[in-house]
Amino acid sequence: MRRQADWPWPRVMAHRCGGALAPENTLPGLQVCVMTGCRGVEFDVMLSGSGTPILMHDETLERTTTGSGPVSLASDAQLALLDAGVRHHRAFAGTAIPAFAATIEQCRLLDLAANVEIKPAAGYERETGAAAAQMAELGWSGAAVLPLLSSFSEVALEAARITAPRLPRGLLVDQLPADWRARCERLDVIAVHLNQRLLDQATVATLRGEGYRVLSYTVNDPLRARQLLDWGVDTVVTDRPDSVRA
Ligand code: G3P
Ligand code: MG
Repeated sequence: MRRQADWPWPRVMAHRCGGALAPENTLPGLQVCVMTGCRGVEFDVMLSGSGTPILMHDETLERTTTGSGPVSLASDAQLALLDAGVRHHRAFAGTAIPAFAATIEQCRLLDLAANVEIKPAAGYERETGAAAAQMAELGWSGAAVLPLLSSFSEVALEAARITAPRLPRGLLVDQLPADWRARCERLDVIAVHLNQRLLDQATVATLRGEGYRVLSYTVNDPLRARQLLDWGVDTVVTDRPDSVRA
């Protein structure tokens, strides 16, 4: 069995910065997260058309911002004109799409631990993994708790491993694939991140028994969170950091 890695991240982390309580992947989300008493956040990092790592979940701008079209074709100057808050609630009107660099700064100021999900637009997997890892390594240099990098894209995660091998990584999947051991070894991850809907106790026991840590998303029912943590899940990621507690 491999030696189990340390796990300094909180038992509960807010999904996309502030979960459902703030516009996703924004700096106000970090503040809201802190106000709930939650000590960690997950968020998504994608490259803008200018090649800058920014916080964004979708490959297109429509759902979360006042813009439209592919994120990968929008320059930083174009993105700066968009509102990433008003679609969530008019109280958040005027919220900018945050750069990853500014987000790191805020996380450090607010003492928030981070799970950085590398979310490449199709065709930009390697560049996104490398750029996100490079910025994470620089931004969190000297930090007591390093960011945990994860991605559904193994190409992006591999690029992150090559760029910043020192940063811990998690394999992000919906459900544990049959060849998970080979994938985990290849990417040298310390954890597997799994969809809570498809997760059972035996899978958690297998992973923990073989020395891997387990993170599960997106857990919005406090009783389900309790069950997962009791099974040995190390961290649950939630949209409800106000009601899902460690
Ligand atoms: O990283 C966990 C979770 O955020 C993955 O799903 O689509 O919300 O990024 P998604
Ligand atoms: Mg995510």
